Amino acid sequence: MTAQIIDGKLTAKALRASIADEVAKIKETVGVTPGLAVVLVGADPASEVYVKNKAKQTVEVGMASFEHRLPAETAEDDLLQLIEQLNNDDTVHGILVQLPVPDHIDERKVISAIDPAKDVDGFHPINAGRLATGQKALVPCTPVGCVILAKQAQADLTGLNAVVIGRSNIVGKPVAQLLLQENCTVTVAHSRTQNLPEIVRRADLVVAAAGQCEMVKGSWIKPGAIVIDVGIHRTVNELGKTKLKGDVAYDETAEVAGFITPVPGGVGPMTIACLLRNSVVACARLNGLPDPAL
Ligand code: GUN
Repeated sequence: MTAQIIDGKLTAKALRASIADEVAKIKETVGVTPGLAVVLVGADPASEVYVKNKAKQTVEVGMASFEHRLPAETAEDDLLQLIEQLNNDDTVHGILVQLPVPDHIDERKVISAIDPAKDVDGFHPINAGRLATGQKALVPCTPVGCVILAKQAQADLTGLNAVVIGRSNIVGKPVAQLLLQENCTVTVAHSRTQNLPEIVRRADLVVAAAGQCEMVKGSWIKPGAIVIDVGIHRTVNELGKTKLKGDVAYDETAEVAGFITPVPGGVGPMTIACLLRNSVVACARLNGLPDPAL
């Protein structure tokens, strides 16, 4: 079997087009431009790239983009003060503090300082709790992207055995919650899991979010399974050429799986598209409008 490729780039493009339509509708109905504020503390090169891409795509869908770049030595209190200011700013509907923050700043404190109604990362404990209890929430972006892509392979995921590898607050736990909502039978595996290959072999749907380059092997995959690869690792080959790889050994897995997301061009592009989606949803809710059909 050769797996069908699930095209995240194309899916993200289509989602951005729908978001642009919703942004135009909100502008027309209530005269409000959805605004996303991104805060970057320090100059981590990977974060710089993300923040630049976010700003570009925010403007492309017609939203307002606010960027706050703070020096690495910024005091925690100053960052918290900026967040408070953004919480109270009516032109800002989404607030994202780029992670990681420098070590002297308490990440949990920062996340908890963001107004849950503007928490477009969905990392605030209120949003995590709402997601876990099946209430209306802002849901973390990468997990939503994973589920959208899995549903491209199979529109109804009901009854599938899903194995999530990784238990982070950003991906593993929320993606497990979303898959439960989709009526999957969910197993969350992690670094202490025993017999991981055996567990993965039972999965109709695998979400690989362990953060380990090419750890999931082709021999672990049930024939025809849907494989969603959240990993992104920059590798350099013997010729000095850079290549991005995922948590899944792609070539050998694609020979067995039914559907697979590539790296790059799979989950990655979905994350920013879902962030824009959350920002528009947050803006609609803050203005008393119904949730956009996105
Ligand atoms: N750093 C890497 N990914 C993310 C993300 O999705 N949100 C935030 N805030 N920081 C990140």
